[in-house]
Amino acid sequence: MKRPKISVIGAGNVGTNTALFLFLKDLGDVVLYDIKGDIARGKALDIMHLASIWGTNSKVFGTGDIEDTKESNLVVITAGKRRTADMTRDDLLSQNGEIITSLVDTIQQKSPDAFIIVVTNPLDAMAHLALEISSFEPSRVLGMSGILDAGRLAHFIREKYPVAIENILTTVLGGHGDSMVPVSSNSFISGRPLNQVLEKGEIEEVIERTRGAGGEIIKLMGTSSMYAPGAAVWKMAQAILRDEKTILPCSVYLQGEYNLSDVFLSVPALLGKNGVEEIIELPLSKAELKALHNSAEEVKELTRKLNIT
Ligand code: 2OP
Repeated sequence: MKRPKISVIGAGNVGTNTALFLFLKDLGDVVLYDIKGDIARGKALDIMHLASIWGTNSKVFGTGDIEDTKESNLVVITAGKRRTADMTRDDLLSQNGEIITSLVDTIQQKSPDAFIIVVTNPLDAMAHLALEISSFEPSRVLGMSGILDAGRLAHFIREKYPVAIENILTTVLGGHGDSMVPVSSNSFISGRPLNQVLEKGEIEEVIERTRGAGGEIIKLMGTSSMYAPGAAVWKMAQAILRDEKTILPCSVYLQGEYNLSDVFLSVPALLGKNGVEEIIELPLSKAELKALHNSAEEVKELTRKLNIT
């Protein structure tokens, strides 16, 4: 059976760690592309050198020629400018909008049947741009955000209440930015709602820490996160390529769900061989739905600046 071909666009920190996770999990044959070909080739070589150590026959091929990405089953886009500590993700809109426009125009020609997972920020607007430029069905264009944000919330909860991480189920909806909506009513510690385990102040603290987690990392190390985003992309890619029917929080194109349309937001999505196979509508309180609509408005306002909607 033909192994899936996965192309990772951008051999920066996120792209390289994404390629590493895909390699370690043997999800398919990985092409790591970067406009700086030697960087991609060097990082791919470094990963291939661990094949015998790890005991895998996976492959990562580094290249500076985007032609090498043709006929991919899945394309992960991480290319773009990173924000600095004094920037918000939204400040990257115009620069990264140009990069995404050019890349997706090429990708839709070379890999017309691919799924696209966007990682480049501002995430939700860039995913919407990828949908418009590719003209792919919405089920094939997703953004990586909710898994990362939900994973961060789980970590901060575990710091307060040290249980095995698999006992912590968290939900974060909305835009991948300050307006994200951690849903404490749909976050559980071994079946108990968060508000039955943590104090109100503790819940507010872990929610705020989750919202600021990306910026916290940049302040600490002068560059944005890389390991957790790579793992989050692997999770989405595996669900699609192995037809797992896993429900994961991803930025997807809403067409009426949560009474919202024409906007990318992170909500629970059932992922399988057809990409986004179902968008799950959670029961939300009035306040939670209001916060989600507020987040949608912020994302829509940003996306409108791209003149695509
Ligand atoms: C983050 O939240 C880079 O947006 C990514 O760390």
